[in-house]
Amino acid sequence: IPVPVFDYVVFGGTGDLARRKLLPALYFRLKDGQILEGSRIIGASRREMTDDEYRTMTSEALKEFLAPVDFDEAVVSRFLQMVSYVPVDAASEGGWDELRERLELEPDRIRAFYLAVGPDIFDPICENIGKHGLVTPQTRVVIEKPLGKDLDSARRVNESVGRVFSEDQIFRIDHYLGKETVQNLMALRFANVLYGPVWNSAMIDHVQITAAETVGVGSRGDYYDHSGALRDMVQNHLLQLLCLVAMEPPDTLDANSVRDEKLKVLKALRPINDENSSIITVRGQYRAGIIDGKSVPGYLDEVTDHASETETFVAIKAEVANWRWAGVPFYLRTGKRLPSRMSEIVIFFKQVPHSIFPKGSGNIQANRLVLRLQPDEGMKQWIMIKDPGPGGMRLRHVPLDMTFAEAFQVRNPDAYERLLLDVIRGNQTLFMRRDEVEAAWKWIDPIKECWERSSTAPKPYTAGTWGPSSAVAMIERDGRNWHEDI
Ligand code: BG6
Repeated sequence: IPVPVFDYVVFGGTGDLARRKLLPALYFRLKDGQILEGSRIIGASRREMTDDEYRTMTSEALKEFLAPVDFDEAVVSRFLQMVSYVPVDAASEGGWDELRERLELEPDRIRAFYLAVGPDIFDPICENIGKHGLVTPQTRVVIEKPLGKDLDSARRVNESVGRVFSEDQIFRIDHYLGKETVQNLMALRFANVLYGPVWNSAMIDHVQITAAETVGVGSRGDYYDHSGALRDMVQNHLLQLLCLVAMEPPDTLDANSVRDEKLKVLKALRPINDENSSIITVRGQYRAGIIDGKSVPGYLDEVTDHASETETFVAIKAEVANWRWAGVPFYLRTGKRLPSRMSEIVIFFKQVPHSIFPKGSGNIQANRLVLRLQPDEGMKQWIMIKDPGPGGMRLRHVPLDMTFAEAFQVRNPDAYERLLLDVIRGNQTLFMRRDEVEAAWKWIDPIKECWERSSTAPKPYTAGTWGPSSAVAMIERDGRNWHEDI
């Protein structure tokens, strides 16, 4: 179903995020017929550029970031007709009148400002948007992490955006929430009767959430070295996944019902302090190593500060201290330069209480539900069955496999495709509310502070391995292992 005609203004319109993600995402939505003719995409940034030059940049970005089979000349040319550009200086008067004139050609349509820029200029951009009268009742603003680097700075970001926009106009993106499998987690939990009764500490032994990457920091060293994996991945993406696994059923899919439930989970996270931090958190930093047969440099060779203590790997044993989940560990793990790019949520159910099968039937393995975010998005429910054939009762652990690409034979849309149009639809269900972001920082800040007080450096790990050995020790102490796909 197409969304209403809109104007999308992309600040940072010439930047990496716009070229790599936003423009391709909007292109795909046009290609699939969801964007109506007449909609406008207006790039804005400090750089002087004409409309035509911006169209050329856009077309080059599409060439670079689309697979050749997806690049359709006819659609590209329709897309380029929607695209234009206004040079605007966030912090001065430059360009704002031109932008207003352009927007006022269509004063009543849905208008979205996407701030694909560093958070330090959220404030002047919002102020200028307000001052130049660009906010109509149909206006929204989209902001991305880093939404602060701790609770105080997150509050400041929220306040400066909140001075100009009301909460229901603010869309805080966490692109993990736009991933197909993540939304499927909601379908699985709330559109099936099977999982509801077993989704608790009586039946679930523990949960593992992993987001592993093979890439290093690359050209993002300046940003990353001030952030680290805890702020870059755990505060947002991993905690959002944890919330969706652990939350109570919301009354409806309405944005505030879902976000109310997620907030309760964040508030129930057991605090990490100096006493438990060294036992239930591990941080690491990669050293040179080999990934996919290629040598890669160590972190300290990639950033300016060669003595940096920024972590590129984190493992945490978290606990949601409420009636449903008490005693069920949520093991979180993320890192760069790990052996494979793989993100998944794995629910480990408990063992059967008693085996009726004779010795030699094979081990009964606990049921396991694997929700794969990438690659090969899909779900596998592992169950025990009898090995077919007359050979007597031999048990086998097999997956009920639903890999989406095989089951549906469709291209997997990028998370941004869904989220960018949800902004136009005015649907905030997959976006974070202010109090959620702040509650997440409230849990994260003490972890960072414990690490700083402990005056130990992150543990080194060789690129191409699964992080420092202490991350393995952390889970093995509990008699469990990190999940490996089989
Ligand atoms: C971003 C982080 O939010 O997520 C990056 O800033 C990380 O450091 C990326 O690489 C991972 O996203 P995805 O979708 O590739 O798992």
